[in-house]
Amino acid sequence: MALCGFVALAACTHQAQEADGRDAEIESRIESLLSKMTLEEKLGQMNQISSFGGSIDEMHDLIAKGEIGSILNEVDAKRINQIQKIAVEESRLGIPILMSRDVIHGFKTIFPIPIGQAATFDTAVVYSGARVAAIEATSTGIRWTFSPMVDIARDPRWGRLAEGYGEDPYLTSVMGAATVKGYQTDNLSDPTAMAACAKHFVGYGAAEGGRDYNSTYITERQLRNVYLPSFKASSDAGAATFMTSFNDNDGVPSTGNKFVLKDVLRDEWKFDGFVVTDWASASEMINHGFCADSYDAAVKSVKAGVDMEMVSYTFVKQLPEAIKRGDVSMSDIDNAVRNILRIKFRLGLFDNPYTDEARSAKELYADSHLLEAKKAATEAAILLKNDGVLPLTDKVKSVAIVGPMADAKHDQMGTWVFDGEKDHTVTPLAAIKELVGNKVNVVYEPGLTYSRDNNKAGITKAVNAARKADVVLAFVGEESILSGEAHCLANIDLQGAQKELIDALSKVGKPLVTVIISGRPLTIADEVQKSAAVLFNFHPGTMGGPAIADLLWGKAVPSGKLPMTFPKYVGQIPIYYAHNNTGRPVEGNEVLINDIPLEAGQTSLGCRSFYLDAGWEPLFPFGYGLSYTTFEYSDITLSSNSLTTNETLKVSFKLKNTGSVEGTEVAQLYVRDKVGSVTRPIKELKRFARVTLKPGETKDVVFELPVSDLAFWNIDMKYVVEPGDFDLWVAGDSQSGKPISFNVK
Ligand code: BGC
Repeated sequence: MALCGFVALAACTHQAQEADGRDAEIESRIESLLSKMTLEEKLGQMNQISSFGGSIDEMHDLIAKGEIGSILNEVDAKRINQIQKIAVEESRLGIPILMSRDVIHGFKTIFPIPIGQAATFDTAVVYSGARVAAIEATSTGIRWTFSPMVDIARDPRWGRLAEGYGEDPYLTSVMGAATVKGYQTDNLSDPTAMAACAKHFVGYGAAEGGRDYNSTYITERQLRNVYLPSFKASSDAGAATFMTSFNDNDGVPSTGNKFVLKDVLRDEWKFDGFVVTDWASASEMINHGFCADSYDAAVKSVKAGVDMEMVSYTFVKQLPEAIKRGDVSMSDIDNAVRNILRIKFRLGLFDNPYTDEARSAKELYADSHLLEAKKAATEAAILLKNDGVLPLTDKVKSVAIVGPMADAKHDQMGTWVFDGEKDHTVTPLAAIKELVGNKVNVVYEPGLTYSRDNNKAGITKAVNAARKADVVLAFVGEESILSGEAHCLANIDLQGAQKELIDALSKVGKPLVTVIISGRPLTIADEVQKSAAVLFNFHPGTMGGPAIADLLWGKAVPSGKLPMTFPKYVGQIPIYYAHNNTGRPVEGNEVLINDIPLEAGQTSLGCRSFYLDAGWEPLFPFGYGLSYTTFEYSDITLSSNSLTTNETLKVSFKLKNTGSVEGTEVAQLYVRDKVGSVTRPIKELKRFARVTLKPGETKDVVFELPVSDLAFWNIDMKYVVEPGDFDLWVAGDSQSGKPISFNVK
């Protein structure tokens, strides 16, 4: 202790931890501050406003009175420092403001939309995407982002699936956790660290009919088995904040749902950050018909466990009266303020409230950021079909580039981009020209000017260009604005006249490579059938063009896998791989609609659960994606076929590259719990690994799976591993491989 001088003493105490893992020094600073705060100042901390770069003068008095805890939508370092100066120097207690922004898949350097990042099955890439976003955003003073979105999405009509990691709880959990770590690092007080916000808590992705904001009806068991694990993973990864969701589940809007906000989040998970409402979701409980007025909304939000209100001001206006009446207690308020101050302290805002204004010039669009974004876009691309035309070789001397997404600088960035600038986007057209130089004649004839374009006049020109080319590259898909919040679709075919464009090009007789750039899975069975190859990209961001060009010419090899099942028809939705079995399984003995004889007598058609006009299979299953090479799985062996619940199963196998180019396979481990106290999914992803192999190379791969990872919420609503028989598969997608059995005692 003698070594702890004045400065070092602070460090020594700083490291002192309370029994619950909290920092003792921070906790005592919180208590000391709290004891000095007036009610108005406390409610100020619970109040978030959105300024959108509006007049600082108008905010000045509120900030100086300590009545604003957080500001949303400021993005300029000078302004942010000016605002912070008012809070720190002019307010009575000098509490800094937490500056926040939706930085969803990059700040300036835009990465693939999160569903695309999920397709990489690469947590390192997802981590670095979040790191780059945090470095860039914090250079302007933003220290809190509303990401990751870890909502499970099993409905491609829902526009917001673009912001999350797809249909699978495990994939979403690990990707969400990597994102949290990327934003926050292990030291939230680092000036490049940004507080994460796990959203939208909870069940939002299950909106009925895939219509945004719609009601959900998720039972507690399904909530716990499917929708909560990704949030738990974010909490375990240290996510500083959570955001409530807009939906009501079984009649209770999330912002007023004590069960999820207190019983689960606080009591079970021991979350000690703070909870913010979604945009005006406190006052929206009035629209839901769950609250009579804004007084009721404020009371119900705080009683349920909300700490900060985003933009609807019911807290500042109504809570003083609620305290007088005893509907809310001072300790409810104090707890909320503690949670908020804790994050401000952990961010180091009290000690270092200002941002270094020189940083952004060096950090925005840094070369290393663009390289990371290109790597992410490269790994995110999914090869859905290839009859051998890809990769393009030196023999290809001319290409026709057609379609509305070939040169769509704005639209390849994807949804939820507020700060990325389209002038920095490199499109496929530009990147291909750059890559092939004068070795290949590139003719650009878009045919349609944007994805919803119904004007077919240009299609003839595109067809003529196709006739003269060795290979046709058709870039189709969706504009950014067709996915994201409040942008849901009932029809997920290609929009506008894009189907006609592909149809016309397919009749030219030249190899047709269809490159799709979209915010969601699409129903593209026809286009897949008509194309020689299909490369699917969820909106790939700033560097999508160079990534796609490299992939088309074989400078890179596709390795992305689908994070969501692709349906053949919208009518198959919801369709996801981890469904429970009914008493009448889905597979086998299918008689489709045209196989039924006229005036057939009543028959149950094999007693299977399928559609007469679509069968049971999706267009492409979860986990699917091709490469320019092929892989062979062999010698799958288990460390034991009989384990106890505290053992770890080791699944070893050989993975061989059986083709002629180097490639990366995403090996996937699925498990089925054969008999449970409740019915169980037919398969669940438990592990995955990206394995890079040279031609002919074989690697030994081992998945380690603690048996405790087979636990689920059972008939007694207990999280347990139920002993019994299990099957496992090691394969390149959720529909391949042969089951191997093991038993848990
Ligand atoms: C969205 C959130 C977002 C918030 C703040 C809401 O409309 O649902 O995801 O973080 O706005 O912009």
